[in-house]
Amino acid sequence: MTRTTSLERRSSHPHGRLERTLIDAETLEERVRELGAEITADYADRDLVLVCLLKGGIYFTADLSRAIDLPAAVEFVRARSYAGTESSGQVQLSWIDGLDIAGRDVLIVEDIVDTGLTLIEIWRALEEKGAASLAICALLYKEKRLAHPFPVRYIGFAIEDVFVVGYGLDYDERFRNLPHIAVFQPESARSPSR
Ligand code: PRP
Repeated sequence: MTRTTSLERRSSHPHGRLERTLIDAETLEERVRELGAEITADYADRDLVLVCLLKGGIYFTADLSRAIDLPAAVEFVRARSYAGTESSGQVQLSWIDGLDIAGRDVLIVEDIVDTGLTLIEIWRALEEKGAASLAICALLYKEKRLAHPFPVRYIGFAIEDVFVVGYGLDYDERFRNLPHIAVFQPESARSPSR
């Protein structure tokens, strides 16, 4: 059952409002459990390193890592390209220098694949560091928006082209802490995008 939180009741932002729930918390939990079981089977006996893309990947990585029944390492990289609802077209990566992933099996954990630009940049950077294998696990996948097609091995949910917030995803740094995924309607949006 989806409860209405105080956060939802105070759902308007000077530049938009929460429109509807797209994926409720129970459905998220169940799918994350399934992904965890799949990854556990695929990476048995391998040296698995989860690389969480911050900030959006924080809640997904926290839950997914606990659904994986292996002694996985968890690392964090900051990847930023969006301002409001629009991609700047430039991805800034931070905290990547100290990553020790040479010869290890790396799974990039991403909250959403929208244009795919972030994945291209992070993949290139991690490849240079000599990972034994690289793969991607994305909670949300917007096929229609994909400008840079990329192989995503694990997908939680394929979604329509709407701007979403919650479970790590933000609008101007707000709403990351919603426990579910909601559609956010920006006041001035001409075309919806992540
Ligand atoms: C968002 C999201 C993904 C990326 C997806 O990050 O968390 O990392 O955009 O978009 P793309 O496929 O078009 O590259 P954002 O730049 O908003 O930073 P954040 O994670 O700190 O919110």
